[in-house]
Amino acid sequence: MKKISSKFLVLILFLAYSSCYYDEAVEEIIPEIPEEQEVSFSEDIQPIFIQEGKDCTTCHNGTVANPDLREGNAYNAIVPDLVVPGNAEASVFYQRLPGNNHPVEAGFLLNTDEIALIKAWIDRGAENN
Ligand code: HEC
Repeated sequence: MKKISSKFLVLILFLAYSSCYYDEAVEEIIPEIPEEQEVSFSEDIQPIFIQEGKDCTTCHNGTVANPDLREGNAYNAIVPDLVVPGNAEASVFYQRLPGNNHPVEAGFLLNTDEIALIKAWIDRGAENN
């Protein structure tokens, strides 16, 4: 009986710990995207969500996790609910990226260049361009 309850305790502790999981906030500096470099949702942002080996849509596919980041759905799934156009820092989408406090382990992180592109796209108005 005693053994069972200590196993149970370990399980509870594990569940409590893993429910508090947040991946590390990016400690590296997010680079600035130069003014003259255009950032387009369809050409620069959507492709970040569906990279081989770093595919958000294995989970964010309308079934497993929200928001739905599949091509054709992603823009309307994140703007305006999770994105404040013109203010990345105030946008839940930006605050919760893999590599920047994503709420569960995604199995991979975005790198600082990818995070910088998403930040620039939001800061410049989050257009559907
Ligand atoms: C292993 C599955 C998995 C992968 C891969 C994954 N996510 Fe998530 N993500 C989740 C889960 C689960 C949540 C919690 C929200 C939910 O359950 O709907 C979440 C939450 C989020 C949130 C917060 C949403 C909110 O409303 O607070 C954002 C933003 C996000 N993910 C972005 C991404 C991006 C971008 C990628 C790819 C670079 C990605 N995620 C990859 C599972 C995943």
